[in-house]
This record gives sequence, structure tokens and C-alpha cells, in this order.
Amino acid sequence: GMMNEVTGINVMEQSLKEKLQVKRVMIVPGNSDDFPWVKEELGRATIQGMKECLVEHTIIAVTGGTTMAAVAGILTPDFASKDTLFVPARGGIGEDVHNQANTICATMAQKSGAKHRVLYVPDQVSREVYDSIMKEPSIKEVMALITSANLVLHGIGDAATMAKRRNTSEEDLQKIIEGQAVGEAFGYYFDVHGKIVHKVKTVGLQLKDLASTPNVFAVAGGASKANAIQAYLKGAPHSSSTLITDEGAAKELLKGT
Ligand code: G3H
Repeated sequence: GMMNEVTGINVMEQSLKEKLQVKRVMIVPGNSDDFPWVKEELGRATIQGMKECLVEHTIIAVTGGTTMAAVAGILTPDFASKDTLFVPARGGIGEDVHNQANTICATMAQKSGAKHRVLYVPDQVSREVYDSIMKEPSIKEVMALITSANLVLHGIGDAATMAKRRNTSEEDLQKIIEGQAVGEAFGYYFDVHGKIVHKVKTVGLQLKDLASTPNVFAVAGGASKANAIQAYLKGAPHSSSTLITDEGAAKELLKGT
């Protein structure tokens, strides 16, 4: 019955929190590999978790991806009163426009009645062009907002899927394959031990910045992402992370415990 299902999930959340050494685990029923609506449930849980730690003038740095897009799609206008600001976590990492952090961050602001800023740093430019862009006052201002974000919201991807989906060069693809990357987040690719085997060159939030971020929400579901989630958490600072996942991934992650 319903009670047993709720109890079962609570037990899984507790075991997974201990296994992964994160601040909190939230599990939604289902497996997003099988049913797309499970991503919306991940979104609902994420919004609930975020609301619980929202203070005045929260700066929320967000990444791209379809999971983040699902969160954006169901945000409701109740973040505005606290003067919330959405910023993209990092500059371009090769995603199509609908999956880009800038786009998702704009949708999140629009849906929730909050504000947002964009970071337009081109992916492929010469060193000189890049250096002069970085000196632009408007870019510097957004960069300062990103590095002072007190809440980070991000997806975790399967390495091969992400490398394929993105505009990844042949050279970088080789690095990802030879390095046996399994997980990806923020443009960082991790092997099964959590070692960074490739990092997309772009500005903004760096992995080490997570260590000083009070609230980090990692949102990733689907049994197929279990290895990616585990690899990422091994490699990234995660003591202030809340993992929001689904039963499909959680069951895989708990195997062997
Ligand atoms: O960095 C992680 C990826 O953006 C996750 O993408 O939510 O579409 O699987 P996804």
C-alpha cells in the first residue's frame, strides 16, 4: 500500500545518504529512463528542497541539460518576493541552445518571477579575444555573481551521452574515451574513481567552489545514470550536496550495500 511505499523510500533515502556521504537524499518514485514524467517529479522535489533553504537575495547558479529544463518548466511564481537571482553556473559547454544554462536560467527566472543574468562567452575564440572579453565590466559583474552564488543547482550526465550530445571535438572525445569517463557535471568528466579525465574549458563556477557553497542540489534520475552519479560524487566536494534522484537510480546505487 501507499504507507509501505513511503516507508520504503524513506529507508532508501537514509541508506543512500550514508553510503554517498551527502547532506540529504530525496528519492521520487519511478525510473526516469522508462517514463519522462518522472523527471517532472524530480523537478517538484527539487523545488521543495530549494524553497526550504531560500533566504533573502539568494543567488542560484544553474547548469544546463534536460533535467534542469524539467525543473525550470514547473517553477511557479513564488521566488520573486525573496529577491532571488538566477545565473548560469558556467559559460558555454557545447550544448544546443535549449539545453544551455543561459536559456534554462532565463526560463527559471521567468517562471518563478525572479531575476536572472546571462553569461555570453563564446566557446571557440582566440586567446586575445577571450582575454579582452573577460575584461568587459558586464562580464566581470556576472562572474562575480556566479562565484558568490549561495545555491547551486545542477544535473549529472552519463559521460558518453553528454560527449555525444555536445559539440565535442575529436581530440576531446578521445580523452573522454581513453580516460574511461562515466559521469559528467559542469563540463567536468569523471572516471569510476571520481578522477577528472577531461574538463571543458570555460569560465564560471569551478568544481572546487562547491566546497564553499552552502547548498548544492544535484538532480539526476534513471537507472542508467547510477554509475555517473556515483563517479561524480566521488570526484566532487559533496558535503553540502542534496542528491535528488529517482527509485530507478537509487536501487542501482544501493546494490552491493
Ligand atoms: O551536466 C549534466 C548534464 O547536463 C545532464 O543532462 O539532464 O539532460 O541528462 P541531462
